Amino acid sequence: MKCIGVLTSGGDAPGMNAAIRAVVRAGVHYGCQVFGIEHGYQGMIAGAIRPMDARSVSNIINRGGTILHTARCKEFMEPEGRVRAAEQLRRFGIEGVVVIGGDGSYRGAQALHQEHGIRCIGLPGTIDNDIGGTEYTIGCDTAVNIAMEAIDRLRDTAASHDRMFFVEVMGRHSGYIAMISGIAGGAEEIIVPEEPTDIGALIETMRLGRQHGKSSAIVVIAEGDDAGDAFQIAKIVAEKSEFKDSRVTVIGHLQRGGSPTAFDRVLASRMGVRAVEALLEGETGKMVGIVHQQMVLRPLSDTWECRCPYDPGLSQVARILAV
Ligand code: F6P
Repeated sequence: MKCIGVLTSGGDAPGMNAAIRAVVRAGVHYGCQVFGIEHGYQGMIAGAIRPMDARSVSNIINRGGTILHTARCKEFMEPEGRVRAAEQLRRFGIEGVVVIGGDGSYRGAQALHQEHGIRCIGLPGTIDNDIGGTEYTIGCDTAVNIAMEAIDRLRDTAASHDRMFFVEVMGRHSGYIAMISGIAGGAEEIIVPEEPTDIGALIETMRLGRQHGKSSAIVVIAEGDDAGDAFQIAKIVAEKSEFKDSRVTVIGHLQRGGSPTAFDRVLASRMGVRAVEALLEGETGKMVGIVHQQMVLRPLSDTWECRCPYDPGLSQVARILAV
């Protein structure tokens, strides 16, 4: 294989640039021409494809976002869109593509590989850490650290005013960011979509905290919880209890930007090199994951068929420590 394409798709994640850099430089190392495909599958269909070399990825390992831009592309979900995309790839002589994104992006990659014989290797790039077949996704560590820092800051003001704060973090349907940042930030309660939410129990935990001498509290809520968003949960708590004067903070897209942590940069670098090697070995329809610190290749279908196992042990740790 002489020509490889690389794209980022879906929500951006810190470390995507480190992954692009790794793909480009590994490609150069192994004697390939690497093409950057802009705006994900949208750019593939439109032919927004440009050659990249080692210098075109200088000084990006430390930058959040993605220099290739990203998009969620409906047209690529249709067979006609993929026909047009495959035509563009053939025009540039691209035989294999590294797709950096979440599981939605992999369904497209799977179809491209099955219908048009273009080799595709996925790299898990999403802050949500919700992809089966890998213990970590590129960007989740940075997002967790940003959320933790936000919780630390809120704790200062919560403690000063003897207040309860509800902090909403991202994660779509995954409580990973909430759970890890909540434990790291010493949250009094962590609410995740993987467990049914009992508002009565939440109120009791807060009351117990008061009895134990706590004058403030931080409740971390993962977006997508069955009980509602942070504003709705705060409202219900206020209606049903004496905790009426709480504050709500939604961290939102702040946790998707900024410089990636060392963990995300190294993960992205290792995965990017492995992805290129996998393409050159003739692999296709697989995602690079990390399991027990080792790079592994998993079928793309695993990424949506096997959900990430939720560890109830973590919420037990959070509860034990929140006295
Ligand atoms: O999948 C990454 C993610 O940041 C989710 O955590 C969040 O639900 C979603 O993307 C937000 O998407 P958008 O940037 O389109 O608002």
